[in-house]
Amino acid sequence: EKGGWASFMAKEVSEQPEAVANTIRGRIHDGQVVIPELDGLDDLFLGINRVIITACGTASYAALVGKYAIEQWARVAVDVELAHEFRYRDPVIGADTLVVSISQSGETMDTLMAVKYARERGARTLSICNTQGATIPRESDAVVYTHAGPEVAVASTKAFSAQITALLLLGLHMGRVRGSVADASTDVDELSALPDKIARVLADENEHVSQLAGWMADTRSVLFLGRHVGYPIALEGALKLKEISYIHAEGFAAGELKHGPIALIEPGQPVFVLVPSPRHSALVHSKVVSNIQEIRARGARVIVIAEEGDAAVLPFADEVIRIPLAGAMFEPLLAVVPLQIFAMALATAKGLDVDQPRNLAKSVTVE
Ligand code: M6R
Repeated sequence: EKGGWASFMAKEVSEQPEAVANTIRGRIHDGQVVIPELDGLDDLFLGINRVIITACGTASYAALVGKYAIEQWARVAVDVELAHEFRYRDPVIGADTLVVSISQSGETMDTLMAVKYARERGARTLSICNTQGATIPRESDAVVYTHAGPEVAVASTKAFSAQITALLLLGLHMGRVRGSVADASTDVDELSALPDKIARVLADENEHVSQLAGWMADTRSVLFLGRHVGYPIALEGALKLKEISYIHAEGFAAGELKHGPIALIEPGQPVFVLVPSPRHSALVHSKVVSNIQEIRARGARVIVIAEEGDAAVLPFADEVIRIPLAGAMFEPLLAVVPLQIFAMALATAKGLDVDQPRNLAKSVTVE
């Protein structure tokens, strides 16, 4: 079952190149993204003026990446709502709203109830799910399956990567249908290159990041900073660490630092910073580099995740983890990998059960 791996989580982290490749397979035709399951359902994307993505936990962080991608490509407003918050207020939704739900198991009760609620209110519903025939897809107008394969470890890893992949595909599919993406060829090339790039991060950084985690086994708190699509990855890095290593961890939008969290920085505080490529936006990159300078000046121990060749981070980083060059929307799939490895190695260094963390179940089927 575990096939020689120390844990299911280790196995599933290593399976991410295939999880992403399998999710893309059959969905690219003539240089365009065409999701066959959505054939004949163009009205889902044309008759709407708003998208709400609803999910819980890790799936809600995939949703946040999806917000950036769908807004950019499909030019429609996207909000992300935690499923358990969504249905306990009186959301303004109707026939002009597409509610996209994301669930690995397809059985999460909070998410299922949000989908049912959205339908009752007349919204259109589409689910992204990893489990064939699960309840949530059965309750939805349409489904886009992720093909990550069965995920056993409680901490979600390959399903998360497959969810982001499905959202990128959905964004490009919607963009084509809505006429806002005329030429998807660069993005399609980026998608196709992802599995190999993820494999490279796994091969090149596994030892380095595991070593780093080993040195930090006594750490009591770790912070994660990101900007743009790096922000949800910071949240995901923090959740992984909380779940399996029981260490206090928080993710922040880097720009939010000066509005409060910077007060937490004291000498020796470990902070992971996700640095977006300067090729995407020199301005955004320089803002993150100045965030690094600000926390470094206050004694933070800065662990940077940056693309190969980005030398601007070197003077201010205690550790640099490298990821291959990728388009802005595709970077999260590379940057999340070292964070998964870090959480896993830290839990292992503490002698914890990586696959079965305390107090948690793989599928949360109660509200
Ligand atoms: O099966 P789902 O994707 O609906 O599960 C949602 C969350 O419960 C899940 O992602 C949870 O946060 C994981 N344990 C994260 O690692």
